[in-house]
Amino acid sequence: MQFTVAIDGPAAAGKGTIGRALAAQFGFAHLDTGLLYRAVGAKGGDPVLAAKSLTADDLTRDDLRSMAAGEAASRVAVHPQVRAALLQFQRAFARRMGGAVLDGRDIGTVICPEAEVKLFVTASADVRAHRRWLELGGDEGQILADVIARDERDIGRSDAPLRAADDAITLDTSALTVEAALARAVAAVQAKLPRRLG
Ligand code: DC
Repeated sequence: MQFTVAIDGPAAAGKGTIGRALAAQFGFAHLDTGLLYRAVGAKGGDPVLAAKSLTADDLTRDDLRSMAAGEAASRVAVHPQVRAALLQFQRAFARRMGGAVLDGRDIGTVICPEAEVKLFVTASADVRAHRRWLELGGDEGQILADVIARDERDIGRSDAPLRAADDAITLDTSALTVEAALARAVAAVQAKLPRRLG
């Protein structure tokens, strides 16, 4: 069975938490596509060459979760050739047998427009910055400024900008507990699953 759950949205909105939990609940594979861009940014040098030569090992670096790695990822993600180099891998992952959950910025719009379920997970910039601060520490005001700058770059780029697909269900997690957000996501998947699996 091919069944794709596409999760898009800005940084720290809860995409990863929801994506991992959905994958565990339904037995689907999960791909955090932000990690691909983070790994390209972290390699340094020519980002197009870095994207073309990306290996599984590159994704295991332990410095990929930092704010700096997110910033570098957002910068390399602007290049159409970087995005093109990562496209086929993500598409194949999305349509693998057994079901897949992918989270990122362009999954429902570019990587897998035929996804059975599309979620656009968002939250206010203040709430997202606060979550990042709880996770990583540091100066919360600076984190908020970084989150806003990253949103602007991801939304404003010309190739595959961050936006909700027309047929996406928007989940604003600003005032939702993780459990409540997850319950809505699970219901959205169950509504689309073939009957014998739902
Ligand atoms: O989800 P994240 O914070 O790990 O993503 C880091 C950056 O990577 C994000 O700011 C933009 C880029 N990205 C992208 O352009 N397309 C994706 N599908 C995933 C991430």
